[in-house]
Amino acid sequence: MSIYNWDESYTVKVELMDEQHKKLFELLDDFYKNLSKKDNQENILKIIAGLRKYTFQHFFAEEMLMKKHNYPFLEEQKVQHHLFISKIDDYENRIKTGKLLISIEITSFLRDWLVNHIKKEDKKYAEFFNNIGVK
Ligand SMILES: [Fe+2]
Repeated sequence: MSIYNWDESYTVKVELMDEQHKKLFELLDDFYKNLSKKDNQENILKIIAGLRKYTFQHFFAEEMLMKKHNYPFLEEQKVQHHLFISKIDDYENRIKTGKLLISIEITSFLRDWLVNHIKKEDKKYAEFFNNIGVK
């Protein structure tokens, strides 16, 4: 069973972006599921690295689409994306150096951030892109 799921209420009405957002939820879910396993630090670090990589690729794809179509809130998006990646890097470094214990707070923070970003920021581009025929 999945704890973190994408559902229709998160749609940004651009198919590729919805697909990538779904994948982000899957990766977070994988992270969550691995929390309860013992002696799993190495595996979790691999999952975090994978999540970071995919998130970075997704943000890049989103920003490229925005740039291509002169989306007016690109800069705001970039700032938020950058902060999120920095947060993942920070978690990763603190876990590696033993300054942070892997916990559910990490996955809930990342999940809450993502949900909030999709619902408040990304949903703003749905109408903009749909109006110019990008779906
Ligand atoms: Fe975004």
